Amino acid sequence: MAQRYPDFIWHNGAIKPWAEATVHVMAHALHYGSSVFEGIRSYRTPNGAIIFRLGDHLKRLFHSAKIYDIDMPYSQEQLASACREVMKANALEQSYLRPVAFRGLGGFGLSAETPTDVAVAAWPMGPYLGPEALENGITACVSSWQRMAPNTIPTGAKAGGNYLSGQLIAREARRLGFGEGIALASTGLLSEGAGENVFLVMDGALHTAPVSAALLNGITRHTLITLARAHGIDVIERDLPREYLYLADEVFMCGTAAEVTPIRSVDGKQVGTGKAGPITRRLQEWFFGLFDGRTQDEWGWLERA
Ligand SMILES: Cc1ncc(COP(=O)(O)O)c(C=O)c1O
Repeated sequence: MAQRYPDFIWHNGAIKPWAEATVHVMAHALHYGSSVFEGIRSYRTPNGAIIFRLGDHLKRLFHSAKIYDIDMPYSQEQLASACREVMKANALEQSYLRPVAFRGLGGFGLSAETPTDVAVAAWPMGPYLGPEALENGITACVSSWQRMAPNTIPTGAKAGGNYLSGQLIAREARRLGFGEGIALASTGLLSEGAGENVFLVMDGALHTAPVSAALLNGITRHTLITLARAHGIDVIERDLPREYLYLADEVFMCGTAAEVTPIRSVDGKQVGTGKAGPITRRLQEWFFGLFDGRTQDEWGWLERA
C-alpha cells in the first residue's frame, strides 16, 4: 500500500505543504549521518490533546545537538510551538511528532561549516510494533550485531548515524521472523532493543541495564521507573547477562513508539508464561492511565498540545 503523507510540515520556521519540504542531495547529513532528532507522542485525553513530555524530548534534542556541535537556529520554546503548529495544521490529536535538525548544504568535508536545517513532521500513529503487540506481546531475538563500544559513537545522542546500528538489529530480527531485535553492548551484556529500552521482571523487581550499557536514556524508561517506584516496586539499574532474558519472569520493551510492549519469547525460549505478565500489565495500566485519566499526572508530563 502506498504511504500516505500528512498535508503539512514545519520546515525552517514556516508551515508548508509536505511536498515542498525538500533538501539538496549534497546535504551533509545525507552523506555523514549528521542529524539529531526526537520521537514524541501526542495523545487525546479527557482534557484535550496533550504532548507527552515535550519539554524533556526537546531538552534531549538540544543535548544531542550539543554533542555533535550542531548549531540550533531555534530555541526550545520555538520548537515546542512548531510541534503544536504542525499538529494543528494537520488537525491531529493522537500523533507521532518528529523534530529533526541536520547539517544541510554547505561544504563537503566532514568538519565543514554547514547551515542547520530544522523540520517538525507529525502524523497519526497507532501501536508501533503492530496492534496485537501491546496485548499479546512480541517475539524477540538477541541480535548478532552489538551496540557501539564506549567512546566510539555516543549512544546518549539521538543522532541519525546511530540508527545504522538500529537498522542492522531490526532488519536482522525481521528477516529471521522475530518481532524485534535486542542488542548486547560491546561488553557482551544486555543493552537495548533496536529502538526501545528493555526491562526484566525478576522476583517482583524491575531490572534494566544502566545508561553506560550503550543505550539511549529513554524518556519512557524514565517514566516507567518513576511510575514503578511511586507504586512501591523496586527498580534496579544493573549489568544484565544475556541469559537473564530467558530466565526472567517477565520481559518487556518500552519507548515512545513501542510504549510498553510485552515480550513473550527471546530466541525462541518462552518468557515466563509466554503472555504479558502481571507487572507488565500494571505498568501498562499506569502508563496508559496517564492518557485516559486513571493515573494522576503528578510530574507535569502532560503538556498542552
Ligand atoms: C535506540 C533507542 N533506544 C530507546 C528508545 C526509547 O526512548 P524514548 O522512550 O525516549 O522514546 C528509542 C526511541 O526513541 C531508541 O531509538
